[in-house]
Amino acid sequence: MSSIRIELESDGTLHLVLDKPGASANLMDRAFAEDLAETVSAIQEMDYKGIILRSAKSTFFAGGDLGQIAQVTRESAEPFYTMVESIKASLRALETGGKPVVACIGGAALGGGWELALACHHRIALDSKGVGIGLPEVTLGLLPGGGGVARTVRMFGLQQALPLLTEGRQFSPAEALEAGLVHQLADSEQGMLQAAREYIQAHPQVAQPWDEKGYRLPGGSPSSPKVAQMLAVAPAMLRKKTKGVMPAPEAILCAMVEGAQVDFDTACRIESRYFVELVCSQQAKNLINTFWFELNAIKGGAGRPEDVSSSRVTRVGVLGAGMMGAGIAYAAASRGIEVVLKDVNLAQAQKGKAYSEALMAKRVQRGRSSEVQAQQLLERIVPTESAADLAGCELVIEAVFENRDLKAKVTREAEAVLADTALMASNTSTLPITGLAQASRQPQHFIGLHFFSPVDKMPLVEIISGQQTSSESLARAYDFVLQLGKTPIVVNDSRGFFTSRVFGTFTNEGIAMLAQGVAPAAIENAAWLAGFPVGPLAVSDEVSLTLMEKIRNQTVADLAEEGVTAPPKEADPVIDRMLELERAGKAAGRGFYDYPKGEKKRLWSGLAGYFPQAEVQPEVQELKERLLFIMAVETARCMEEGVLNHRRDADVGSIFGIGFPAWSGGAIQFIDHLGPKAFVARADQLAENYGERFRVPDGLRARAAKGQGY
Ligand code: NAI
Repeated sequence: MSSIRIELESDGTLHLVLDKPGASANLMDRAFAEDLAETVSAIQEMDYKGIILRSAKSTFFAGGDLGQIAQVTRESAEPFYTMVESIKASLRALETGGKPVVACIGGAALGGGWELALACHHRIALDSKGVGIGLPEVTLGLLPGGGGVARTVRMFGLQQALPLLTEGRQFSPAEALEAGLVHQLADSEQGMLQAAREYIQAHPQVAQPWDEKGYRLPGGSPSSPKVAQMLAVAPAMLRKKTKGVMPAPEAILCAMVEGAQVDFDTACRIESRYFVELVCSQQAKNLINTFWFELNAIKGGAGRPEDVSSSRVTRVGVLGAGMMGAGIAYAAASRGIEVVLKDVNLAQAQKGKAYSEALMAKRVQRGRSSEVQAQQLLERIVPTESAADLAGCELVIEAVFENRDLKAKVTREAEAVLADTALMASNTSTLPITGLAQASRQPQHFIGLHFFSPVDKMPLVEIISGQQTSSESLARAYDFVLQLGKTPIVVNDSRGFFTSRVFGTFTNEGIAMLAQGVAPAAIENAAWLAGFPVGPLAVSDEVSLTLMEKIRNQTVADLAEEGVTAPPKEADPVIDRMLELERAGKAAGRGFYDYPKGEKKRLWSGLAGYFPQAEVQPEVQELKERLLFIMAVETARCMEEGVLNHRRDADVGSIFGIGFPAWSGGAIQFIDHLGPKAFVARADQLAENYGERFRVPDGLRARAAKGQGY
């Protein structure tokens, strides 16, 4: 059975209905390539006036088959290339047939789906929420290989096409109309079909602008002065974003510019070649694995206990209206949840609410929210100094100072007014949940909900299951995180859980380099070039060295109680020295960096005086690898110790929570990227050179010996 149904109406309108048998969505796979070729050849024999291309599924077309794409290797690249070229040839035949072809887009048309629509002469979208339009391929390390680059460039010109192709933005129907991506919107399926029929009647003979005589590229060809000027700087600007570790945007720019200088068919072939090159790249495999398969699994509830029915929170309590509490209150209120925001006095609580006021004022100013929406959101946040106001909350999240006794006190205060069924959560960044749960009258209803700062921007929440946390509580916490529109990862209890623990190895390694005489700028640049959003010294300043010292002291004290001596860290003497010098970080106005008012921060020139630089500096590659490996090794330990249940939590959590470079697909995928054997061999070398902290756990060594990863 074909994935394309052909239906001829009596008025001569020919419908090509995309309807992959037995599937929930239409895919651009091998079967589709064959079906499309057969369809194009079959309709040549038919008598019709014009074509309506539409879908029988809830989405228009889901795009390339990522499962298939992920399997393509250099060895199997040729048949894949042939398939891509075949799809393009069929679309080209439809496009140049002379008869009008209208795309009726009644559901999401992203990636390959949007490329089908681009090959049509007229595009009508249903004005409905579920319709998203755009080319997100770049976010998965790919490029639009179904003619999307060639057509977007010819429709908009190089300058305007560049963001459309390299940023992966998704447009709503109204935005797509404004941007000139679609020609018309319709209010209903019927209206859409009617408009398509009218277009066909009015345009018996059509061609794309680029197939008309005298067509010129909008904005000018690559050699025209204005475009040439833009192209002289575009690679450098792109490089600033990709840091040389993201090949897709660079390949897109190449395909755009090279394709703009040749005829349409050659441009399409150039595009296919760059596309297949990317498909075979390890970066694309990394990104597809993590940002598609693993992330979708998480959003689909993969880490959530199955046997618990789903729940929603209508009223949440937040204890502590400081930086984190204020952010959590905003995140909840923006999703329509009532928030009781409690602090030690009303003024403090109101200060926390003011955070939401400032955020909403900015949104209103930028046209992202209306005054009314801002008002409604703010009304949902009720600041208070009284624990009694927490009555009726289904969930309370504690975000007071990182102090065990205080956390115990506020937990008891809250539980005194809460229903037995209420869930109690702590936003602690380091304190083990099982210990904190001792203060709770119902430890089975106690859980960790670890948000990241700034809460309104950071998409991740680390859910920590304590030893006594019930699966029902875990499921409810998971549902709540999804309700906030955030991404949950689930981990088991341990000091620092997963994210803080692995993040600590990053800052420790960077600061250790400083102690070893590595130039501070080299440390920061190595991190940046490896793809980290910020260097270890800058991020230590953000966290504040005082907090790092506090966490260390707490750990030492806690372990001492268990009769264990906490091992000293390489960074400790540097942190102590910086604190003696009263350079505690950004909040203090001085740390590894200086923060001159009104100017960009810069590395403190005095660092060299206290941490002398070695005459011979290491290679940047060595520094990059130290940062990547130390985090990956610690992540492997978390897998082996059962802190992590599944590698997807490690991959997604490391990228979204602690800045592990996205190109790698995350801290476990990074091991796969290199191959487990090669990873272990290099980690051993690093252990010889820099210390046992780089030694991989036995479990990983055993896996690697068998050629297996996680
Ligand atoms: P903060 O110092 O900004 O805020 C703490 C707030 O708790 C203050 O407003 C304080 O007045 C309030 N408070 C103290 N005693 C209280 C009581 N009895 N009842 C109600 N409120 C009380 O601290 P921040 O940064 O917001 O951290 C809060 C928690 O979140 C800590 O456990 C921290 O480890 C954790 N965390 C912090 C992150 C960060 O980046 N700052 C990230 C993730 C978690």
